[in-house]
Amino acid sequence: MGNTASSSDTRRLKKSNMNEDPTLRKVILRHGKSNDTSATVFMVGATLVSWKVDGKEKIFVSNKAIWDGTKPVRGGVPICFPNFGPWNDGPQHGFARSSKEWKVVQEPQVDQATGDAHAVFVLADSDATRKLWNKKFELRYTVILKTKSLQLIVDVSNSGREAFDLTFCFHTYFKVPRSTECRISNLKGLTYTDKTKEGWPEVVETRDPLQVDKFTDSVYAKAPDTCVLSGLADGSSIKLSKAGLDDWVVWNPWHNISKMSDMHEDAHLEMLCVEATQNSRRANVYAGGKWSASHTLTVQ
Ligand code: BG6
Repeated sequence: MGNTASSSDTRRLKKSNMNEDPTLRKVILRHGKSNDTSATVFMVGATLVSWKVDGKEKIFVSNKAIWDGTKPVRGGVPICFPNFGPWNDGPQHGFARSSKEWKVVQEPQVDQATGDAHAVFVLADSDATRKLWNKKFELRYTVILKTKSLQLIVDVSNSGREAFDLTFCFHTYFKVPRSTECRISNLKGLTYTDKTKEGWPEVVETRDPLQVDKFTDSVYAKAPDTCVLSGLADGSSIKLSKAGLDDWVVWNPWHNISKMSDMHEDAHLEMLCVEATQNSRRANVYAGGKWSASHTLTVQ
């Protein structure tokens, strides 16, 4: 599937992006052959806020999420770039998830043969980004919707004259019928940083599968590229794959949601974050070079 828009498309899209209020725009990808299979990207942060497969929503968004662009949407798949976690130079998890400067460079396009749809979004350096992080970059985000899967791809180009490094995360919030009933496979034996504890101790995971029934904030370093989240509605599960990303993060704020102004009551039972992340090692992007990573979610 080609990622490049034709030059007339690009001209038209540049025009259509101009003066557009990102808080008013959602880009919807619809599968051409699968009934009610879609993905929706909100233009603040290019945050994917819905992924439906045969009409069934897989992504959690808080009922109290803020949509006016004053803060990142609570839920969906926020893109944490150029930093995952607390950041000395700017907001936690970087600026990409709250940026209003994302552009659509490829409007949703459906492949006639397969029905698969894709769209492409770009965030480039600007006065606002350079104030926090003085680098020249382009972050290209491709969303591909297939019948049973969603593929999220990022390509970060360094258009400056010096190398830079970064951490990154696809901060996916899954919508679950009850988080305590969910299981995450394939983490046993891995060392994780337990961010719920003072001093963030390193712990070896002994649980298999992992079941989340309390405040959890664990960064599994150098983890295998696949794990499975089971216990979804109708007994289905989602296979999660990552490429170019070393780590998985499992997060559920549990009763701390009471301190979060954008989380509704009992939201901790309706969501679980399993995040494809680059955190244990900084990714280097050389001058003129590129760093790419992807995350694929497949219903099974
Ligand atoms: C997770 C982090 O990825 O995101 C947590 O591991 C953090 O430490 C959580 O609390 C949510 O972050 P935020 O900034 O969206 O509240």
